[in-house]
Amino acid sequence: MSSEATFDLGAQVEAARSLALSAIANAPDAAAVSKIGSDLANKKSALNTLRSGLGKIQDQEARKMAGQLINESAQEIDRALQQRIAEFLIIERAAQVAGEGIDLTEFVSPNRRGYSHIVTQAMERLEDVFIGLGFQVAEGPEVETDFYNFEALNMPRTHPARSEFDTMFIEPFSVEHEANTVLLRTHTSPVQIRVMQTWEPPIYAVMPGRVFRRDTPDATHMPVFHQIEGLVIDRDITFAHLAGIIESFTKAFFGNEFTSRLRPSFFPFTEPSAEFDIKRHNGDWIELGGCGMVHPNVLRAGGIDPDVFTGFAFGFGIDRMAKERHNVEDIREMYTNDLRFLRQFS
Ligand code: PHE
Repeated sequence: MSSEATFDLGAQVEAARSLALSAIANAPDAAAVSKIGSDLANKKSALNTLRSGLGKIQDQEARKMAGQLINESAQEIDRALQQRIAEFLIIERAAQVAGEGIDLTEFVSPNRRGYSHIVTQAMERLEDVFIGLGFQVAEGPEVETDFYNFEALNMPRTHPARSEFDTMFIEPFSVEHEANTVLLRTHTSPVQIRVMQTWEPPIYAVMPGRVFRRDTPDATHMPVFHQIEGLVIDRDITFAHLAGIIESFTKAFFGNEFTSRLRPSFFPFTEPSAEFDIKRHNGDWIELGGCGMVHPNVLRAGGIDPDVFTGFAFGFGIDRMAKERHNVEDIREMYTNDLRFLRQFS
């Protein structure tokens, strides 16, 4: 074989080599590189064809050199293949890690922040309105004794009005208490007694809180609900002051276009007693709560002399007010913790 033939073979090896290397460099992914690798391993690939032609070279030295040239090119191509596959594996791995990672910033979005429940919002607004009218805020315990919940409120053991409160009793927590004397308060009125026992008149107080009754839940009732109690004790307090406060409150809380009315009623702890309603946007009257002049027996139970001081009290349901303000159809919706419902009031 002439040196020209060897030179020609060298050029063919070089052409096959550079074609293979540029195909590897331009492959879009690991799968494409593997495909190039298997094509190159094929018997009919350019380098393999040249290799099988080696036998035709007569000159032993020339044949050996040509064989070496082909082998070196094949090894170089193989290294390029392995390296490119390794690069693609790193890229693919990084993409996989990025895809599986948790983006913690997702949870810091301002839309995900909490806010008060509508009943809490109503309670806080009520407190604000009464503070604006010169009242102070007080609180009492949810677990009460028979004395504060009934007896001191002019409802002795046998009083028929007791049966109107479907009371939930709890096991007495000490030997001092007989059975059926420890209970979950059925209204916020016992806080009136606690305030009278500890504050000196003049008293201008509101007492919001949770109350409990053995009631079956329906669209307008829940066994656990909220009330706000009001108590005013001062010299020369009359029923006119009570009516004035109710009307000022109605306008301050619901708006100037709202008005209130009082209807005669009965509560053992007030005399005279009334129920008060407010007029809704659509002209209907809705009952909000009860009120009246504090009964002399109640003043005495609170340690206040009825000959020196008089006063009035009122109490109404907060849940019902929140329901009216936001036009909620069913009071139970406020307690199912459905975020789609609750988010409307954020
Ligand atoms: N405690 C009464 C109730 O729960 C409401 C009320 C409070 C009535 C204060 C008069 C005075 O129905």
